[in-house]
Amino acid sequence: MSATPKIAVFASGSGSNFQAIYDAMKAGDLTGSIALVVTDKPNAFVVERASIAGIETLAIKPANYPSKEAYEHVILQKLSELQVEWIILAGYMRLIGDVLLEAYPNRIINIHPSLLPSFPGKDAIGQAMAHGVKVTGVTVHYVDAGMDTGPILAQAAVTVVDGDREKTEARIHEVEHELYTKTLNQLFSL
Ligand code: GAR
Repeated sequence: MSATPKIAVFASGSGSNFQAIYDAMKAGDLTGSIALVVTDKPNAFVVERASIAGIETLAIKPANYPSKEAYEHVILQKLSELQVEWIILAGYMRLIGDVLLEAYPNRIINIHPSLLPSFPGKDAIGQAMAHGVKVTGVTVHYVDAGMDTGPILAQAAVTVVDGDREKTEARIHEVEHELYTKTLNQLFSL
């Protein structure tokens, strides 16, 4: 691996984790560079963030391709062109398929807003609050074919603010931004 790894960030939403990674790299707190943002939602706010940061975006809808394989082949082509070494999922709400898993073994990382294996899938924060848990958290893990499965790299606990989703979510995001950059730094320096 190169001394400053080239990464692609995959995101489907606001992109605050993309922003945290970008800012940490810019500040010199995280080694590496973002070569590409990939999104399945061309209208997602992450596209605007990437444009402000001057980072190329590949915005493509899976529905426009005959299969997941065909969709991922288009992504893989671009990743290869740009010599991307790591795929970093940051709110990418889609399962990664065989094409990318085989091209990037142990090189795809995800962040999830719960203490996995609790509350995988969509709206993990809502699931945790509906369950009435007092402590939830954040997990960074290697990606495999499952939904928010794969070996865990790091976790951090977050206390739920009783009945207040907004405050709980804000706390989780704050912890995510810190934990993701710290964990990626450790991974990239191995
Ligand atoms: C983050 O909370 C991330 O952990 C979650 O989506 C949010 C994206 O926020 N990911 C998942 O739920 C993956 N299963 P962001 O767009 O502001 O980075």
